[in-house]
Amino acid sequence: MQKNREAYLPLLLLADPSEEMVRRYLPEGELYSWLTSEGETVGVLHLTAPDDGVVEIKNIAVREQYQGQGHGRSLLESILKLLRERESVEKVIVRTGNSSIGNLAFYQKLGFRIMEIEHDYFVREYEHPIVEDGIRCRDRLMLARTL
Ligand SMILES: CC(C)(COP(=O)(O)OP(=O)(O)OC[C@H]1O[C@@H](n2cnc3c(N)ncnc32)[C@H](O)[C@@H]1OP(=O)(O)O)[C@@H](O)C(=O)NCCC(=O)NCCS
Repeated sequence: MQKNREAYLPLLLLADPSEEMVRRYLPEGELYSWLTSEGETVGVLHLTAPDDGVVEIKNIAVREQYQGQGHGRSLLESILKLLRERESVEKVIVRTGNSSIGNLAFYQKLGFRIMEIEHDYFVREYEHPIVEDGIRCRDRLMLARTL
């Protein structure tokens, strides 16, 4: 799907609280949506290619009423399958915050491992403090998996 990307902003903002940040990368890369058989949007996944052989998941979000039902796993697994068919892609990376405990569980269950930590990234780059589950989001973690 490549229809009007702006239409997916509310969904993309579930994964990134900064509209400015989401808008900055929205025109780049590929945006995939996951639909019900009736054509309703369940989730969205945004990919970019920061380096040769590397694809980055810039955003993945499942609508709140559909979360926790296996849609995120299905969406990500189908994208990994698609990427496996592209011989040029070796590695998939994703970045998230230290306070996003549920997301860290999700990615690790999908085979991603923590590879890098950028200390104080969210303190430097985000205007407002982010707190999740009582934890201040300070550090950006990069997780990766081979295909
Ligand atoms: C993260 C997100 C995409 C996961 O999608 P989902 O459809 O809710 O996840 P699924 O139901 O497919 O779960 C897949 C696996 O991850 C685990 N998981 C998902 N969310 C979890 C959480 N918050 N805590 C612990 N485990 C979690 C599930 O237990 C499941 O494990 P299993 O397959 O071994 O049973 C979804 O919760 C979401 O859109 N969140 C808001 C946006 C966001 O934060 N995006 C990520 C930005 S980094």
